[in-house]
Amino acid sequence: MPSRELHLNAAKPADGAPIVAPLRLPYALEMALPTPKENTTALVTGASSGIGADIARELARRGHGVTLVARREDPMLVLADELTGAHGVRAEVIAADLTDADARAGLPAQLDARGLTADILVNNAGFTTMGPVHRADRAAELALVRTNVEAVVDLCTLFVPGMVTRHRGAVLNTASTAAFQPLPGQAGYGASKAFVLSYGRAMGAELRGTGVTVTTLCPGPVETGFAEAAGMTDDEAGEALPKFMWLPAADVAKAAVDGLDAGRAVVIPGAANRAAASLAHLAPKAWILPLMVQRHPALKQAPKP
Ligand SMILES: NC(=O)c1ccc[n+]([C@@H]2O[C@H](COP(=O)([O-])OP(=O)(O)OC[C@H]3O[C@@H](n4cnc5c(N)ncnc54)[C@H](OP(=O)(O)O)[C@@H]3O)[C@@H](O)[C@H]2O)c1
Repeated sequence: MPSRELHLNAAKPADGAPIVAPLRLPYALEMALPTPKENTTALVTGASSGIGADIARELARRGHGVTLVARREDPMLVLADELTGAHGVRAEVIAADLTDADARAGLPAQLDARGLTADILVNNAGFTTMGPVHRADRAAELALVRTNVEAVVDLCTLFVPGMVTRHRGAVLNTASTAAFQPLPGQAGYGASKAFVLSYGRAMGAELRGTGVTVTTLCPGPVETGFAEAAGMTDDEAGEALPKFMWLPAADVAKAAVDGLDAGRAVVIPGAANRAAASLAHLAPKAWILPLMVQRHPALKQAPKP
């Protein structure tokens, strides 16, 4: 079986002998979701709607107990009942605003109090603002960075060390195809998702051989309340991106959890979205950015400065 050597401790005593024997983990051990146990959980943020709710459904279908985290408690309570009823798994709800550093810091203790260990971490909560930076609402932009970037870094920093110690864990971060090129009209959002993709790829490389994997989900347009929450009508959203690129949230969630199970670094659901992401990544930015400015509904509406 192929194996990789990991020097857990680079420091050596005077005689040159390693302090900690190198740990060898076979690739196969890294390539699956941790087996669900009674005291383990998958902590899923942004589980009150859309992709996060469907990722929770997909994990529960595979036997994982889930801890649902978002601000709106009621839809999560309904989902928790649904998952327990349909799959016989444990499901609990933590209502938390992830822009709040204290709320995030309290999550490990809330799991400890329930006797739970997070073997799976899904950083999926996120939202977008719309419009040019020079007309941006400062509070909304900062809330976006706190939710889409700061919370991802914070929860990884809080939960991944324990996974590494246990040699067991899987992290799924939701970015977007917006990560592959700048996104005029949603500049902060595009940059936040580029951060999530870069961060996840780097962390995944660091963790090779530890038994902990990192997968970054990069969906194209998905049929959720996401665009509406940003003040875009269905017509505007449909105009911005062709119909064949839109996918149901359940399909995106299945692709994400399949990718997590296979230890994939990046998952882009849908062939059209994979092609568009590659093209946008490779195309000279001086060509595509003016086209994107012309097409973006939030920029079409804005009067010229
Ligand atoms: N839909 C798309 O076209 C699309 C495409 C690419 C990537 N994505 C990404 O997919 C992820 C999920 O979006 P979605 O499409 O499923 O949209 P959605 O239905 O609007 O879900 C967003 C989730 O994030 C949660 N959330 C937002 N702000 C939060 C906060 N401050 N604290 C805690 N939770 C918060 C929301 O819960 P509460 O409101 O209850 O707090 C909700 O559960 C996001 O990261 C988004 O950027 C979406």
